[in-house]
Amino acid sequence: MAEHEVDLEAEQYENHREAGEILRQVREETADRVEVGVSHLEVAEYAEDRIRELGGKPAFPVNISVDEEAAHATPAIDDDTVFGEEMINLDIGVHVDGWLADTAITVDLSGNPELAEASEQALEAALEVVEPGVETGEIGAEIEEVITGYGFNPVVNLTGHGLGHWEQHTSPNIPNREVSQGVALEVGDVVAIEPFATDGGGKVTEGGKEEIFSLQTDRSVRNRQARRALEQITEEFRTLPFATRWLETDRAEMALRRLKSRGVVHGYPVLKEDDGCLVSQKEHTVIVTEDGCEVTTR
Ligand code: CO
Repeated sequence: MAEHEVDLEAEQYENHREAGEILRQVREETADRVEVGVSHLEVAEYAEDRIRELGGKPAFPVNISVDEEAAHATPAIDDDTVFGEEMINLDIGVHVDGWLADTAITVDLSGNPELAEASEQALEAALEVVEPGVETGEIGAEIEEVITGYGFNPVVNLTGHGLGHWEQHTSPNIPNREVSQGVALEVGDVVAIEPFATDGGGKVTEGGKEEIFSLQTDRSVRNRQARRALEQITEEFRTLPFATRWLETDRAEMALRRLKSRGVVHGYPVLKEDDGCLVSQKEHTVIVTEDGCEVTTR
């Protein structure tokens, strides 16, 4: 029987590429705006507006993680937090018609360039080995080797992931350490690879803050604001993550609390290392090709 041919020129891949192209530009422009004294909200809104101007849509709220934070932090409504001399990770996503690209970069204002370099170099090493047939654990082994070579730890309970249609996290996951999963990449797979390096223990835990949510079960709610919020969620975001500050209804925080208590949406608590530690992150999205991969976000 003939092997299934994947058409990498098909429209879905063109959309992935367009999302990646927008994201490459937005990542660089946004990173340039991160400076001591600038507000998180200004930077997040700049990135999200720029994505729309360039013809895409944010695939999830811009994640701005500081120092021990690794993921899922985004500004609250009216947030007035400003950057200090910190390690800042920007994780940004774009979709075109539901087809995604996902990228991240560390902006180091803390004076720890080696930690930022560790996740950058780990990603480069990972990209080198991506090709059809490579096991996801082999990619993780490359990441782990580079990061431990710098004297740091990879964050092992955060992983890269496949990107589906209107889905930000699908299989396969791409571990950040050597682990045998028995899963190999195939031509046409679209995956985000995202090494995290830390001077902490390498395992994140859930913090108290929660600003990012996604739809879990679409069931009716009575409260007017909650109903408005749910309409916007199902039409605009579908199953993609969104921020409280994206909701157009008044009393958005109350509306979300109701949706959460009814099990309609679920929240993503900020994930962090222990206080006093730092985390760096670098991420690209790739399309697996016959002889390697195409990096859509470079
Ligand atoms: Co990602």
